[in-house]
Amino acid sequence: MLTYEHFNLQQHNTFGISAHCKRFIEYSNTEELRQILPTLIASNEPWMQIGGGSNLLFTTDYPGTILHSVISGIEVAEDGEEDVLVTAGAGICWDNFVEWTLRHGYYGLENLSYIPGEVGASAVQNIGAYGSEAADSIQSVTTIDSTDGSTKTFQRDECHYAYRHSIFKEEGVRGRYIITHVTYRLRRTFRPVLVYAGLLRELERRSVKMDELTADELRQIIIEVRKAKLPEPAEIGSAGSFFMNPIVPQETFDKLQALYPNMPHYPALAGVKLSAGWLIDQCGWKGKRLGPAGVYALQALVLVNHGGATGADIVRLSETIQRDVFNKFGIQLHPEAIFI
Ligand code: EPU
Repeated sequence: MLTYEHFNLQQHNTFGISAHCKRFIEYSNTEELRQILPTLIASNEPWMQIGGGSNLLFTTDYPGTILHSVISGIEVAEDGEEDVLVTAGAGICWDNFVEWTLRHGYYGLENLSYIPGEVGASAVQNIGAYGSEAADSIQSVTTIDSTDGSTKTFQRDECHYAYRHSIFKEEGVRGRYIITHVTYRLRRTFRPVLVYAGLLRELERRSVKMDELTADELRQIIIEVRKAKLPEPAEIGSAGSFFMNPIVPQETFDKLQALYPNMPHYPALAGVKLSAGWLIDQCGWKGKRLGPAGVYALQALVLVNHGGATGADIVRLSETIQRDVFNKFGIQLHPEAIFI
């Protein structure tokens, strides 16, 4: 276990924002976590768990303790003829895990290649891309209940998964359960998920024969598509998509579509999902800056730190964009990034 006092979180958030916490503790197994919790709770100071920091925006210094898991280890928990259950430590880098699954011939996560972050956060945020979501493959999530140190395992249907949502984000639950391991159900047979229009166009452009496509090829193509659209965290600070794609009632969509026939849209559970990137782009924000904070030139859904931006700079930009989108379309955008 490693403990640091007055720690700069710049390397622990992909925005690259310089903000300090009072204490930073990195633990490498469940026992260490159990040891830390009683002292933390008794201290009456705030504390929180972070993952890879790819969805966080530090708007100010943090006056308490930040916990970070480096729980590693990948284990085949159950080896069936068609499916395998694979359990991974919450602190593993997400893309290393995806790479490991494909190397072992276990399929299902290939469309989620190259998403920044860690295994634990994948189960909180229900990360998604190119027609797949983490929830499609999650079997169960093992946690420690911070109120008493007991182990609680959530089965998939107890996790309330929806678009970028889980029980771990819900009021009253948020922060209580610390994820230590996630178990995924993966397939031994590769069945590509090719429903995302942008991905299909890319496969066509490359003249890929669908019946010859391998999981490794699909992974490489997805990595290239992501690299072409999204900034590399090591080069330019961002939190990936800053806003969630809004889901609007059918009537709202019908009115908007009459005005904007080319507006991208997708079917959603409770209405129609619109593209926040397109809405922001239509407001003329793509590639624009507000001080050291800006909108990425290749994808308007991504806010970036051009260097030296504070959390407050990003918030100012985010609020200005929300206001412009609301004034033009009557739609309220909600950040996907979590403000601390
Ligand atoms: N669009 C524009 N201008 C832009 C950006 C997008 O017109 O600046 C249009 C595109 O032309 C397209 C549509 O909007 O018609 C959708 O864009 P894109 O395919 O890039 O996907 P997205 O909806 O903007 C979502 C996820 C991404 C994920 C991609 C691919 C959310 C919040 N974002 O973006 O996730 O990689 O789909 O599946 O759902 C992330 O969460 O950090 C992330 C990158």
